[in-house]
Amino acid sequence: MPVITSIADLKRLHKRRTPKMFYDYAESGSYTEQTFRENTEDFAQIRLNQRIARDMTGRTTKSTMLGQEVAMPVALAPVGLTGMQRADGEIKAAKAAEKFGVPYTLSTMSICSIEDVAENVSEPFWFQIYTLTDDDYNKRVLERARAAGCSALVITVDLQLLGQRHKDLKNGLTAPPKFTPAVLADLATKWRWGIEMLQTKRRFFGNIVGHVDSAADPASLSSWTAEKFDQSLNWDRIKQLMDMWGGKVILKGILSEEDAEMAAATGADAIVVSNHGGRQLDGALSSIRMLPKIVNAVGDKTEVWLDSGIRSGQDVLKALALGAKGVMIGRAYVYGLGAMGEPGVTKALEVIQKELDTSMALCGERRIENLGRDDLLIPNGFFDTYS
Ligand code: GLV
Repeated sequence: MPVITSIADLKRLHKRRTPKMFYDYAESGSYTEQTFRENTEDFAQIRLNQRIARDMTGRTTKSTMLGQEVAMPVALAPVGLTGMQRADGEIKAAKAAEKFGVPYTLSTMSICSIEDVAENVSEPFWFQIYTLTDDDYNKRVLERARAAGCSALVITVDLQLLGQRHKDLKNGLTAPPKFTPAVLADLATKWRWGIEMLQTKRRFFGNIVGHVDSAADPASLSSWTAEKFDQSLNWDRIKQLMDMWGGKVILKGILSEEDAEMAAATGADAIVVSNHGGRQLDGALSSIRMLPKIVNAVGDKTEVWLDSGIRSGQDVLKALALGAKGVMIGRAYVYGLGAMGEPGVTKALEVIQKELDTSMALCGERRIENLGRDDLLIPNGFFDTYS
């Protein structure tokens, strides 16, 4: 058993143990991947302010997200095809999150279905939908999420069409994979993945296949999005979807103050400042650069969270100190899942929590709610470089 000390260790193991097609799917940004890279590079530019003699005893990373108590304000983001990174991946990630005490969000584009996950956890999880044209499907899937006890709906508002990720096209990404000579050669070195996959029946998009009439290839994310996603999406339509759900709603994919104002006015319980992990608009600024302006605009009207670029507890601290009430992680836990299954997701959460706790202590902080701008040192003009 290798000694894992960081998310980077999990990423290396994920790459070694998972078919290239699925590792690449997780590790891609769109087009030139500028935004994907800058999400992490911008976090690295922000520094932490060391303080001493401030009594670091009795610290806790506990907080709340949407009124729900959490072991740390870090939720697992919806990630498509999680069950291809590892057999039954969504179930494994949801179980790890539940045991750790953080929320789990199931993607519509998951391999395990809503019901599969619900059968394997005891606490409510969150469900994510895209903005689709097909209201019959929307109603049915929301009904299923309600029946499964999901306690909040994450509506992804930045993916009405799919950003182009070159590697997915070159790899011929599908779920399950088509057995081309290149795929077979790759699988020969990932035999453990293959054996586990043969032992599960969950190898298709569990919330889609059998639940939707579609001319598109049911194994292809890109053909399904091209056929079903609502390019006429506007705020009235977002409101309709929120009403269709009738419970707590998180709007994910907000990157401007104006859109944040609209989201708050539309009644979102939380928004996620996000550029979809750099997977959608290549050339957009990093989420962390956009965060303070958005917090300033709507932080008193709705909970503002952040995703895109978080790979450590130090990154979590930076986002919280800049006003986020919580964050979501995607790749950071998917690396753990691909590396080691459920224990790998637990390991990712442990690593992040330990880093957050230690960094808080060395910044002289004992409570999440006390984190603030004083804990950071930021290059002059960092937030005003672009206008
Ligand atoms: C889906 O949301 C993706 O980014 O691939």
